Amino acid sequence: MATRITVYEVGPRDGLQNEARVVPTDGKLALLAALVEAGLTRIEATSFVSPRWIPALADSAELVERLPSRPGVQYVALVPNGKGLERLLEARGKGHPAASVDAAVFLSASETHNQKNVNKTIEETFRAFDEVIGPALAAGLRVRGYVSTAWGCPYEGKVDPRRVAAIAERLLSLGCWQVSLGDTIGVGTPNQTREILGLLSSRARPGSIALHLHDTRGTALANVLAGLDAGITTFDASVGGLGGCPYAPGASGNLATEDLVYMLQGMGYETGVDLGKLVAAGALAQELVGRTLPGKTLQAELATRARAATRPGKAGA
Ligand code: HMG
Ligand code: MG
Repeated sequence: MATRITVYEVGPRDGLQNEARVVPTDGKLALLAALVEAGLTRIEATSFVSPRWIPALADSAELVERLPSRPGVQYVALVPNGKGLERLLEARGKGHPAASVDAAVFLSASETHNQKNVNKTIEETFRAFDEVIGPALAAGLRVRGYVSTAWGCPYEGKVDPRRVAAIAERLLSLGCWQVSLGDTIGVGTPNQTREILGLLSSRARPGSIALHLHDTRGTALANVLAGLDAGITTFDASVGGLGGCPYAPGASGNLATEDLVYMLQGMGYETGVDLGKLVAAGALAQELVGRTLPGKTLQAELATRARAATRPGKAGA
């Protein structure tokens, strides 16, 4: 039987948080519906962070209130502190009773990026998580954790992998069901990936570590391969390659979901994702943000479709 890989879609959150054009709530809901239609079941939909810091996601409460219930689909929202959790729980309470919306907390492995991103030291951020992780678990939510700048920091350069492993394990011990290691600025190479995962694999439960790779320097798929070899079964990706952290200069899009799915399917892994429908979601994402997205498979598939549509004799055939 083919190994199942979970493709964790972050485009509506990580992608849209960084776009110059703010996508209206209706557009975000249409994108989420297209992603669900393509077979994605883990989707990071939005953030309950400060609207002053991330204006593009200021409509998170309205979005969560309007999320449709889709059996088997789990949405997730980023939550930085107690205030964020309070807002998420309130929106969930007003939303569809059967819609599943979990929480994710985030911090960086490097002090400077953490300070720029959440205005706190790493220790202060862990203290803020006391207001999030326990109360969220008590309210019946699952909590995911992120360790950003795990491969490198835009301010401090290389990050010690032992530091990354220690933070990831601390998040797991606090109750996060999964920790996603973030290559926030897309600098990682496979040898580093093997080194980081080697420090974790002996202690972490299977499935408890995911990879969140930005494709800034074109190394994301190579790092996915290193991850697969190390037994990783969840990879984050973003439709069309949307994305980037606004507090990490030079951070560009995440690994494109279509590129990840294309490679995994070609290697015989099962993803549950329909690539044709995913390309339709990518086309919608491009329309919503008003620019051509960097995903290679998306562009190749759209070009193939456009050529087929204009082939002589096609009309009326
Ligand atoms: P702060 O300014 O230090 O907050 O921001 P504060 O606690 O001092 O409060 C200041 C004001 O903000 C107060 O309002 C609070 O109520 C309000 P006032 O009294 O002045 O009217 N406030 C909030 N409002 C709404 N929701 C909240 C909230 N918290 C406080 N949750 C804070 C601290 C963490 C809020 C801020 O720094 C922030 O929102 N940062 C978010 C940055 C962010 O979202 N970055 C992108 C996501 S991380 C990422 O992309 C990386 C990732 O993809 C992985 C990877 O790639 O590596 C996950
Ligand atoms: Mg990211």
